[in-house]
Amino acid sequence: MNTKLLHEDGIAYAAELIRAGEPVGMPTETVYGLACDAGNPDAVRKVFAAKGRPADNPLIVHIADLSEWAPLVTEIPPLAQKLAERFWPGPLTIILPRSERIPSVTAGGLDSVGVRFPAHPVAQALIRASGVPIAAPSGNRSGSPSPTTSAHMLADMDGRIPAILEGGSCLCGVESTVIVLDDAETVRVLRPGFVTPEQLGTVAERVIVDDAVLAQISPDTVVRSPGMKYKHYAPNAQVTLVQGGQADFLRYMQKHGGEGVTALVFDADVPACEALGIPCRPYGDTDEARAAAFFAALREADAEGVQHLYVRAPRTDGVGLAVYNRLIRAAGYDIVHAEAAADTL
Ligand code: TXA
Ligand code: MG
Repeated sequence: MNTKLLHEDGIAYAAELIRAGEPVGMPTETVYGLACDAGNPDAVRKVFAAKGRPADNPLIVHIADLSEWAPLVTEIPPLAQKLAERFWPGPLTIILPRSERIPSVTAGGLDSVGVRFPAHPVAQALIRASGVPIAAPSGNRSGSPSPTTSAHMLADMDGRIPAILEGGSCLCGVESTVIVLDDAETVRVLRPGFVTPEQLGTVAERVIVDDAVLAQISPDTVVRSPGMKYKHYAPNAQVTLVQGGQADFLRYMQKHGGEGVTALVFDADVPACEALGIPCRPYGDTDEARAAAFFAALREADAEGVQHLYVRAPRTDGVGLAVYNRLIRAAGYDIVHAEAAADTL
């Protein structure tokens, strides 16, 4: 199969493919997704197969109008409605008990479904033209960094799916915030994203960040969001997340530099790295910039043949929490504290 790259005039054709039960690459404001008809179990199985995704990891269902939500779930509690009105269209996925319109295979066998109304105009146009709710996991092969351009998605999916719709570089660069409601006033963040716990707190009385967001989860643990337990986002290069200030980071890198080693740093670290001869690439100076850049940076490091990538750790508040959550998984939980490590060497 030859995977076609479709431009905006290809939306009608992409919608035909969706209605025919085929998977199609779809740009969203977060990352590219692998879209299919959420109500068609055979189409959903093709998506799981193309990604190499474990069958117990549920897909997010995408809509293009608030009115399309109610038929997919058993009930929309007032807090969920308020959150949707505040953050949709946008990078927020709300999990609720699913209705019979969502097949079990789409939900990874769970009784619930995560729904999201994406902000990207091409995603919205595809959902409208297809006339069905669209299930879409991120468009990478399972375990790889999520694609933030059509080229990334093509690199993973070439020959596995009929087409990818072009939609430019993803603005957020990090997947949606996934939440569940613990009770009428409490939001639980299962996966952090561009909508931050702080922002959710402007609508909900209480916001809890689930333990799985920052902890290491073993594959046999039962977690509320199955995606949390799998190895994720990992490039071929070994990744180590380095915590600490700039001076500690530089000292650490001077000790750990060598053939095939590169540092992924804040923009402001570049002059100091260069002065010390530490090979580096910048990934931004704000949480938002780092979110937009880091998946691409992981792929570029692989393209350059980097063997060990040391990443200057982002903050763990605001959008930084989402970047940190992805990086600890990319690093396989190899996290060092530069300050302590530098002292003991
Ligand atoms: O931004 C995004 O969310 C992108 C774009 C394409 O919309 N999609 C995405 O899908 O990241 P995926 O499948 O790569 O990640 C979905 C995550 C997984 O960790 C999955 O376990 C969790 O959301 N999830 C989905 N439905 C769930 C449910 N019903 N209950 C618990 N977790 C759920
Ligand atoms: Mg994913």
